[in-house]
Amino acid sequence: MARERLVTPKPTTAEDEHYNWSLRPKQLSEYIGQRKLVEKLALSIKAALQRGDPLEHILFYGPAGLGKTTLAHIIAREMNSKLISTTGPGLTKPGDLMGILTNLKEGDVLFIDEIHRLNTVVEEFLYPAMEDFQIDFLVDSGPHSRLIKFKLERFTLIGATTRAGLLSAPMRDRFGIFHHLDFYPKEDLKKIVKRSAKLIGIDIDELGAEEVARRSRGTPRIANRLLRRVRDYCQVKADGKITAEISNKALKIEGVDDIGLDDLDRSYLRIITDYYNGGPVGIEAIASTLNEEADTLQDVVEPYLLKIGFVHRTRKGRVASDRCYQHFKISMPSNRQRELL
Ligand code: ADE
Repeated sequence: MARERLVTPKPTTAEDEHYNWSLRPKQLSEYIGQRKLVEKLALSIKAALQRGDPLEHILFYGPAGLGKTTLAHIIAREMNSKLISTTGPGLTKPGDLMGILTNLKEGDVLFIDEIHRLNTVVEEFLYPAMEDFQIDFLVDSGPHSRLIKFKLERFTLIGATTRAGLLSAPMRDRFGIFHHLDFYPKEDLKKIVKRSAKLIGIDIDELGAEEVARRSRGTPRIANRLLRRVRDYCQVKADGKITAEISNKALKIEGVDDIGLDDLDRSYLRIITDYYNGGPVGIEAIASTLNEEADTLQDVVEPYLLKIGFVHRTRKGRVASDRCYQHFKISMPSNRQRELL
């Protein structure tokens, strides 16, 4: 099991879940950031509504915590339809999907999170549902077996994945609309922090919001979680208004550094620099040294570290960058490891 961490993009507690829901924008006009995506989505929604058609199937891909689930909810609402939500690993056999699909009404939105983790049998069962709004199932076995086709209502499938590369080509081909979510710039995160502070009823000044935003690893879900920790600190140790100083002190206690790295990020990087002489080192070796799962590192830790250029991925493995050495104020190995690149 992955260890708990303050900045993990996945919700970890019931409190998290509760706040995630209450802080989530409910309509496209409330959504902060990802401007190009939002514009394109607004256009698709308007066009589909004008025609009276369901939206085409949509694939959202990008790191966790950036708003894929939120957008699925917003889309269903903007389309005046119902959202049915499930996950790739939760659908273990075609039967799990059959009940869901046959109950869908015209225009309903089916959201499958972690769609890259669907097993092949379920995935293949989904193809005719996506393409022709019908499912094929086999009744009886042996010489009496027959393939029955069952007509479905026209629905929209929204798939979300952290790694589009893991999706099979036939699955990818069945989506009409693709949207990539990228990490949010600090200015957008600051707006999100200010909006959330207002919603949870806490006073925060410009610099206080900026501090939280700066340490949120480009991720709204992390920004909201850090804000709640700062709010707790402010409530107990200060007199009500979140300032830069309060944000700083609160996040320091939480082990989140100046640029938002936490214990797990630091351990990951220090393993590369200290154990493996800066790399290159394979992800499996890092994972076993850390006693973590390679998938967790790839989905949760690496995307942001790659984005800020602290690690590079090469054919031979992960390599710590100059920037990483500078951040930790340690010197680069001068030797041949680097020449291997
Ligand atoms: N809360 C979390 N993500 C958000 C976003 N993109 N816009 C507004 N509020 C948010």
